[in-house]
Amino acid sequence: MILRYKVSHSQRLALCRAQARFHSTSLHFYQNRQLETYAAKEAQRLSLRQLVFYGRCMSEERLIKNANYVRTELPVRIAHRIRDLQALPYVVVMQEGVTKVYELYWSAFEKYTYLPSAMNSDLTSANLLTRLRRFPRIETLEENERFCTFLQGLLDEHAVVIPNLSLGLTLTSQHLPPDQLDAFMRRMLVSRISRRVLAEHHIALSDSVSSRNRVTSGEDGHVGIIYTGLNVEKSVRRCTALLHQLTHDSEDPWPSGWPGVIIEGHVHAQFAYIKEHLEYIVFELLKNAMQATVTKYGKKSDLPAILVTLVAAPDCIGMRISDQGGGLLSPYIRSPSDLFSFSHVRNASRLEQDRLGPLRTVCASPTGMRATVEELVQRWKDDWPRADDESYMQNNPERKSGVGHRPRLGIGLALCNIFARYFGGSLELVSLDGWGTDVYLRLPKLGTNLEGSEV
Ligand code: COI
Repeated sequence: MILRYKVSHSQRLALCRAQARFHSTSLHFYQNRQLETYAAKEAQRLSLRQLVFYGRCMSEERLIKNANYVRTELPVRIAHRIRDLQALPYVVVMQEGVTKVYELYWSAFEKYTYLPSAMNSDLTSANLLTRLRRFPRIETLEENERFCTFLQGLLDEHAVVIPNLSLGLTLTSQHLPPDQLDAFMRRMLVSRISRRVLAEHHIALSDSVSSRNRVTSGEDGHVGIIYTGLNVEKSVRRCTALLHQLTHDSEDPWPSGWPGVIIEGHVHAQFAYIKEHLEYIVFELLKNAMQATVTKYGKKSDLPAILVTLVAAPDCIGMRISDQGGGLLSPYIRSPSDLFSFSHVRNASRLEQDRLGPLRTVCASPTGMRATVEELVQRWKDDWPRADDESYMQNNPERKSGVGHRPRLGIGLALCNIFARYFGGSLELVSLDGWGTDVYLRLPKLGTNLEGSEV
């Protein structure tokens, strides 16, 4: 089933505007020598274990060495993705969201920029500092501080990347075969996670060195952004509590409560992992399970609980999340794995207005989209229309009964899959149509897998 997507007049206008904007950046195509040099280099992929081992015995000297690794590694990883963007069909790269991402990456790689004013006062030679590729070698802790501020600026600026990419690629989905589109999105997202991990880990290591002014030892349970003894049950409970709290906080006509969550199995399971990644996945999966259950049963006080089974296997942490929300059967979805796809051919719901609308809002928001569960909760609250928002309720009559879905960006599951596979894990959806869904998450415990090859 191939659905054709018709380009409306206003979209054509937007395309023309994007073309005009893109024309001004097309000069880049003639200034590509530096880009080629960087894109020809291989990324130095790391494992979780390497990140922990290096960070555990941190000293000033090692911190500076790490800073220079991050400084030289990020432009290589960005250059690979800029080349990918340049290889897209013209009509795709012209799409507004895609052009925005291209400009952000190009600017991060190459363009000159002023440092934030807080830092300007420290700089003597020139207030003008350069982007990643041109960032000067870091020799001192003070220079590292500037580098961290610079990295944090990039992290904030790039918060809009995922919704823009997702919107752009959805709107031009008919120009790319599904395999090509999904492979492209996978490379973009894996690479983005990898760059953010490097940047955030380095900032966290720097914080611990400067705040303690001595080596960081991981006494408080983490090395940089990696929790060395991450308690899985605690993370499941935290995500459950945040979701339950949402129903109490909101003014919407939601049913009296959401299903409870029962945790069984190896409830003391612990492993070294990035807490934000685990909790992003668990939050999204529990949210889907709760939504499906509420949608199926409506306003009932004794909704069937969601069962979370934890397993600490020798080499991985396993988690099964079972709900009784009726399964994944829908006119749009032929196979559960289609839910991981960005193509409208595999998942026609990508073109639904109630996905595109919220996606556009997030694209326009200066804070874009982050990956901590608190930020997910906040965005969810912000997105949820009030019960007295008549126009919204008229367009979405199912909300009046309080059993409809909250607005969806529609990329949560696809992102969970990318997060799960990033260090070699897996995510599998099994639909028992008419009854419920079982989700199987496996995350490697030993930390020896390298980051995904797409970095
Ligand atoms: C991103 O978030 O897309 C990035 O590339 C961030 C990185 C430059 C620190």
